[in-house]
This record gives sequence, C-alpha cells and structure tokens, in this order.
Amino acid sequence: GLMQSAQFVLSAARKGQFPADELPEVAFVGRSNAGKSSALNRLTGQRNLARTSKTPGRTQLINFFELDGGSRLVDLPGYGYAKVPPAVKEKWARLIESYLQARPNLVGIIHIMDIRHPMKPFDEQMLEFAAAIDCPVHILLTKADKLKRGQQGKQRQLVRNAVGDAAGVQLFSAESGQGVDEARAVIAGWLGW
Ligand code: GTP
Ligand code: MG
Repeated sequence: GLMQSAQFVLSAARKGQFPADELPEVAFVGRSNAGKSSALNRLTGQRNLARTSKTPGRTQLINFFELDGGSRLVDLPGYGYAKVPPAVKEKWARLIESYLQARPNLVGIIHIMDIRHPMKPFDEQMLEFAAAIDCPVHILLTKADKLKRGQQGKQRQLVRNAVGDAAGVQLFSAESGQGVDEARAVIAGWLGW
C-alpha cells in the first residue's frame, strides 16, 4: 500500500526549512515519549523509519516523510518532557507551533496518547488548538498492549466521553499491531485515497 512507500525527506529546525509545495500532510503529535515515532513506523511497516527511544525527547526536529502519489507524514517533537532545560522546551514549543499554526498543507492530525496516561494538559491544549484551526483529529490510544482488554475499553470510553465528536478515538499498539488497519483507513480518507 501507499503507506509502506514512506521515505525520509528532511528534518527541519525552523519554518524556513519546511518543504515549500502543496502536498497534503498528516502530522503525528503527542506528549514526549507517548509513542509517536513507533506508531509512524508501525503504520508504514518500516521499523527504522523514524527514530524511537526509551529516552524521552528523541525527536527534536520536525521530520518529513513522503509517500508515493504525493503526500507526507510528519513526525513532530514530543511536548512536555520535564528533564530538558526550559530554553530547549521553549524552542520545541515554538517549532511545533510554527508548524501547526500556518501550514496550509495540514489535512489531519494523528494525536498519540499513551493509553495509561491520556488527556494531560498538553493533550487538551492540542485538541483546542486543532479545533481553532478546524483540523480533523484522530486519537491513537497507544501501548494498548500494556493493559488488559477490560482496562483498554475503560480508557477508550473515558477519552471518548472527554472529546465527544471533536476527534476519533481508537485503541492502538505499535508493539502488537492492534488498530493498524483502522488508523491507516483514517489517514487514507484524509489523503483522499
Ligand atoms: P519523543 O520523540 O521522544 O517525543 O517520543 P515518541 O513519542 O516518538 O515515542 P517513541 O516512539 O520513541 O516511543 C517511546 C518508548 O515507548 C519507546 O521505548 C518505545 O519502544 C515504547 N513504545 C512505543 N509504542 C509502544 C507500544 O505500542 N507498546 C509498547 N509496549 N511500547 C511502546
Ligand atoms: Mg519521536
């Protein structure tokens, strides 16, 4: 499929380095260490496409990946990692904002939350932000493999109640592949496949 054709294009440290064309983009956002890069790798079927790490803050730049047929997946740095100096945090926040605030290419946001720790303040801010720019959001409750079935369902319901119709919500695991087809279908819809 087209998702598997993903190829790294470039890493951007500032707005001037973003690709300057009109290809539609789906962005992966979420708190530091939530599992953004792992989700991207699982969805593209490429283990080493985006760098993942046990150490939060692995992704410090905005990474662009191009798909056959003319579209991109975008891996954003994680937000909210406590152990980086405030100046670095500020820099990341500005970089993330500079992408989300004025990127006409953006057609949808895949919002990654660790199923064990969903809807933290950053997540709520992100959802408000997406609503303000009128961008569709689909939430992946990832690391579902860490919880038993009953707990997975409870967390899903909790998030669904919190977001209402504002976003899609599904279970996901980059480890087991749970929820991959459902997530791919959402992205395909946004990209008009
Ligand atoms: P930053 O770029 O640092 O913000 O992190 P990230 O959100 O890209 O997270 P990343 O994909 O690097 O994953 C962080 C840690 O969580 C790594 O140790 C992964 O192996 C682990 N992880 C990610 N997804 C899953 C999952 O679905 N299940 C389990 N069990 N572990 C996962
Ligand atoms: Mg990452």
